[in-house]
Amino acid sequence: MSEIEIRNLTKKFEVKGQVVDALRGIDLSIEKGDIFGIIGMSGAGKSTLVRSINYLEKPTEGKVLIDGVDLESLTEKQLRKKRSEIGMIFQSFHLLEQKNAMDNVCFPLEIAGMKKKQAREKARKLLETVGIGDKEKSYPSQLSGGQKQRVAIARALATEPKILLCDEATSALDPQTTKSILGLLKKINEKYGITIVIITHQMSVVSQICKKVAIIDGGVLVEEGDVEEIFRSPKSDAAKELIFEKKVRYIKNFEQPEDAEGQVKEVV
Ligand SMILES: Nc1ncnc2c1ncn2[C@@H]1O[C@H](COP(=O)(O)OP(=O)(O)OP(=O)(O)O)[C@@H](O)[C@H]1O
Ligand SMILES: [Mg+2]
Repeated sequence: MSEIEIRNLTKKFEVKGQVVDALRGIDLSIEKGDIFGIIGMSGAGKSTLVRSINYLEKPTEGKVLIDGVDLESLTEKQLRKKRSEIGMIFQSFHLLEQKNAMDNVCFPLEIAGMKKKQAREKARKLLETVGIGDKEKSYPSQLSGGQKQRVAIARALATEPKILLCDEATSALDPQTTKSILGLLKKINEKYGITIVIITHQMSVVSQICKKVAIIDGGVLVEEGDVEEIFRSPKSDAAKELIFEKKVRYIKNFEQPEDAEGQVKEVV
C-alpha cells in the first residue's frame, strides 16, 4: 500500500454554467519517503491535484487514500486531524504579516492546544533546523523571500506532518535561493522521513531534487516514472516541451554558446 493513492480522480468546476474539467481520471501512487514531482504547464491542474491530496478540493469522482484511509469516509473532525498530518507550503508563503517568525511558527501549535512556553521551545528548534534561528523576532516584511519560505517550512513542520505538499514553493525565488530551499527540503526528507510532493512548472526543480515525476497536461496524467528515465527519453509532448524548455534555460544560464548549440541539437 502506498502512502498516497489517487484513484481515478476527476474534478470539475462549474463557473457561470460552464464546466471546467480540471482533472480527468488521475491514477497516481506516491510511496512513503519519496520526493515526488508533479509538473505541467500553467492551468494543467497541478494545484487542483495537490489540493485534492488534503481534500481542500473534494473530488467530483474518484478517491484519495492516505495510508489506506479513504478521505471520503472521514468526518469533518477526523479530516481536520488528517490534514494536520499533511503540511503545505506555497509560492507566496502565506505568512501572517502581523506576527514575527516565532509567532508564525507557534500559531498552528497554539491552535492545536499546546502551551505557549512549550510551543515557543518547539518553534525555536524548528527555526534553527531551517537555518534562521537568528530571525525569530523578524516580521515577514523584514525577511527575504528565501527566509520567508524557511519560516513557512518551519510552520508546516510544527505539527509533525508525515507529508509535505509544496505548490510552486520556489517559483518566486532566484536560482541560488531555489537551490538552497531545495537543499533544505532534501535534508528534511532525510532527517524526518517526510514524503514530499513538489508541484512545479520548472523541470530544473525536478531534476535537482525529485526521484520520481508525473506530468499532467490538460487535467490528464500523460507520463510518470523515474526522473532520469523521463529526462533521457520523454514520450509525451508535454514532457518533451517541458524538458526542452529546461535545456534552453540551462543553456542561457550556464553554458558557453558553442556547448549550447550542441545541447539544443541533442534535444531537437
Ligand atoms: N476554484 C476554481 N473554480 C473554477 N475553476 C478553477 C478553480 N480552480 C482551478 N480552476 C480551473 O482548473 C484548471 C486547473 O487549474 P489549476 O490551478 O489546478 O492549474 P495549475 O496547473 O496549478 O496552474 P498554474 O501553473 O498556473 O498554477 C484551470 O483551467 C483553472 O481555471
Ligand atoms: Mg497552480
